[in-house]
Amino acid sequence: MLNFTDCADKPFHIMRTINPLKAVVLSGLLASAVSAPAITLEIQAGSPGAKINSAMWGIFFEDINFGADGGLYAELVKNRSFEFPDHLMGWFKMNPSHSQGEVTVRDDAPFNATNPHYVRIASHGTAPLGISNEGFRGIGLSKEESYNFSAQVRGVAEVPNLRVQLYGSDGTLLDSVLIQGLSTNWAKYTAVLHPKDTDPKARLVVLVEGHGTLDVDMVSLFPEHTWKNRPGGLRADMVQKLADLKPGFLRFPGGCIVEGYDLAKRYQWKKTLGPIEERELLINRWNYEFLHRPTPDYYQSFGLGFFEFFQLCEDIGAAPLPILNCGMACQFNSSQLCAPEDLTNYIQDALDLVEFANGPVNSVWGAKRAALGHPEPFHLKMLGVGNEQWGSNYIAHFIPFQIALKSKYPDIQLVSAAGPDPGDERFKYAWNQFRELHADIVDEHCYANPSWFFNNSHRYDSYDPTGPKVFMGEYAAQSVAIISTKNQNNLECALSEAAYLTGLERNAAVVRMASYAPLFGNVDAWQWKPNLIWVDSLHIFATPNYYVQQLYSCNRGDTVLPVKLDGITTTPEGGQNFYASATHDDATGEVILKAVNPGGDPQNVEITLSGLTEIRPEGKVTTLAGDRLDGINSMVHPTAIAPVDSAIHDVMGTFTRTFPPHSMTVLRLKGK
Ligand code: AHR
Repeated sequence: MLNFTDCADKPFHIMRTINPLKAVVLSGLLASAVSAPAITLEIQAGSPGAKINSAMWGIFFEDINFGADGGLYAELVKNRSFEFPDHLMGWFKMNPSHSQGEVTVRDDAPFNATNPHYVRIASHGTAPLGISNEGFRGIGLSKEESYNFSAQVRGVAEVPNLRVQLYGSDGTLLDSVLIQGLSTNWAKYTAVLHPKDTDPKARLVVLVEGHGTLDVDMVSLFPEHTWKNRPGGLRADMVQKLADLKPGFLRFPGGCIVEGYDLAKRYQWKKTLGPIEERELLINRWNYEFLHRPTPDYYQSFGLGFFEFFQLCEDIGAAPLPILNCGMACQFNSSQLCAPEDLTNYIQDALDLVEFANGPVNSVWGAKRAALGHPEPFHLKMLGVGNEQWGSNYIAHFIPFQIALKSKYPDIQLVSAAGPDPGDERFKYAWNQFRELHADIVDEHCYANPSWFFNNSHRYDSYDPTGPKVFMGEYAAQSVAIISTKNQNNLECALSEAAYLTGLERNAAVVRMASYAPLFGNVDAWQWKPNLIWVDSLHIFATPNYYVQQLYSCNRGDTVLPVKLDGITTTPEGGQNFYASATHDDATGEVILKAVNPGGDPQNVEITLSGLTEIRPEGKVTTLAGDRLDGINSMVHPTAIAPVDSAIHDVMGTFTRTFPPHSMTVLRLKGK
């Protein structure tokens, strides 16, 4: 039997009214607590339970909040190929009052037919004439870094030289390079620039020097040091933060971005492979999704495409979990369905993706993978059919996917969608269908206030472990309300998620995977809050929520150990005042206890390790805590709330430990 519990107000989106704010009453409640009654906690190490999926704690990635373009994909030039509908968006004409000539956008005899527009700079005077790019809310330049410039250029008449410059936000020239000897055919030219200063909001300038005319396209600037120093690669600091999570899986490319406002704007993985100039630009749905956060300069270049996603998974040791469109556009938008006779094409895309990831190099799609430099398979084992779909149309689309994929690839686990709310009628309908269809894994989503997470730590206790497994594929506590611009990644939200995750861990027989969403937010260009990790053009910081994820994934354990908690009280809201779960690490032999004390007082707990002998007195402790539930991290104080390691030396069969106020603690203890 499922326990259907109401979620907080759920979506949202354009032309929908924003739900009224939900007051978070828990903070006040916890702050007013005067003393925490004693608790006894027994870890029943002699009665091991379910095995925990090695891919249990993972990552959800979507190009929202400038997550890919302007984020993880390290390209610094916005609208590099002049394909935005406003072809010069992000670009500015330079020197208009001093120079003579024109800057025009053309598409005749292009460098590449998929992205055909380019700029013609015709200079008739002696003063340089050209264009300047503002980057993604400023180009972040570091004086410690070198920058690789490249562009496709064609000399047209009196072929002049091309000057490339970097300018600081105050107009200081940071570096300048002259490129000479240009051909009258399209050719790629490169230069390396070394800014003499650091500037988070610099600009790139491309000038024609001397009389003459040049055509310019695919103007690009990358830091030399990307992740694994791959040219045209990913931002190293952002990938490092992902790697530090030791994620079990990576879900990509979303999110609603999979679905599209209508089907023409859906994510199509086959269009994201190969040379970047052949990856067709597409508007990002988050460009216009929220009337209160319009982002008119948000497009997808697909520089981070499916090959790069698989490569990223391999790099950070995460199992790939691609989510594909199932012939349905976003049901918060157009709800468009593909023509019935077209569904086979969507299914074929899914079959081809499995072959692309796993097929031998002499298969059609395996050969394409090999041609991209990866003859070895990517070991794909899971595939999502649709994102946040619901209703009978979804089930009607899911069934033929299930039949086709299971008959050709019976070992691929399919992820099916349970809609946007973890307890409404759509959700109940979906679960009933998936039970009948013997679905593998059901993707549940929940964006709700912290009290929902505190109150739902027992949600999965009543799920049937013989039914479909659960993927908690998107969740995040909302400090104010879903899509509120005032949401914060505060400690209360993080602790509510930590408390909730004790229930997922305890029910590892049912819950196979979980991921927080969304992942990245750019402080200058976000549409959605909260997010796990925040960046600007040069810096990054992790939220308390990130550290909760990290404490779980880096202390996963292999087997669930039952925990008996006595003496806990219940708050008037229904949440407990203490939460715990435990696992056993087979490699180290450690017992791992995770405990959450959201209250404002220290909590004394008498801990008993039953079923263990030879208990070692020393143990490792990691604590995430803060003085205030509304505490946050920021660019200025990036680790105001961060885990702190310590050691204890008094562990026994029964011992007492005090858990600090507003904290999550991980104890690693050894015995036999
Ligand atoms: O995480 C943000 C959005 O929330 C996702 O794109 C979507 O799946 C959900 O509604």
